[in-house]
Amino acid sequence: DRNFTGQGKERLNHMKLLEERIRQEGIVKSGSVLKVDSFINHKVDPFLMKEIGKDFADHGITKIVTIESSGIAPALTTAIEMGIPMVILKKQPSKVLNKNLYQTMVTSFTKGTSYELTLSAEQIDETDHVLIIDDFLANGEAATGAIRLLRKAHATVAGLGILIEKSFQPGRDKLKEQGIHVYSLARISKLAENYIEFIPEEV
Ligand code: G4P
Repeated sequence: DRNFTGQGKERLNHMKLLEERIRQEGIVKSGSVLKVDSFINHKVDPFLMKEIGKDFADHGITKIVTIESSGIAPALTTAIEMGIPMVILKKQPSKVLNKNLYQTMVTSFTKGTSYELTLSAEQIDETDHVLIIDDFLANGEAATGAIRLLRKAHATVAGLGILIEKSFQPGRDKLKEQGIHVYSLARISKLAENYIEFIPEEV
């Protein structure tokens, strides 16, 4: 496992902070979907994101990578904390002609949609050690797509930082099989009507 610098007491505080917020404002929708529009997906709490950025900060990383759009806020605060650039993987390719593009199809089970994830070869190369940051980990399709692109760029994937992991879905195992270390702040083991169960934090 990687030695995230935010480990210990501060990390535990951030985990609790996020869990409390999910308990207070999260709404469980049908199909085991957690709606967190009041602080992550629609309105964004910048102060929460700032704290989370400290938590994901790690040594030896050269770039933070995220997938648009909800991963951008925590990815940016992490990048600021570490003093390194953030790269956004695009879901809609730029209309400006660019020959050096890496592309891969990603299918979202939760939303029932597909998109072509795009990265320009100019932004990441074989010298990069990348930490991927995203808001949710469900089936792991988005993260797996991001990793495919980063491998095309010959970059090293150092890990995946997630705000909310739905541990009852196969994402974490899928990534573990690929040798990717997953670090999730909140791990949800069960979602039901008026009921959210978390996996207890470990320090
Ligand atoms: P996966 O990437 O882990 O495979 O997840 P999946 O395909 O099942 O879902 C893809 C989209 O659905 C992602 O957003 C993901 O963040 C979101 N998602 C999955 N489960 C939940 C949930 O319980 N609650 C919420 N709020 N979102 C969930 P996206 O399409 O990339 O959109 P964006 O929000 O980043 O723009």
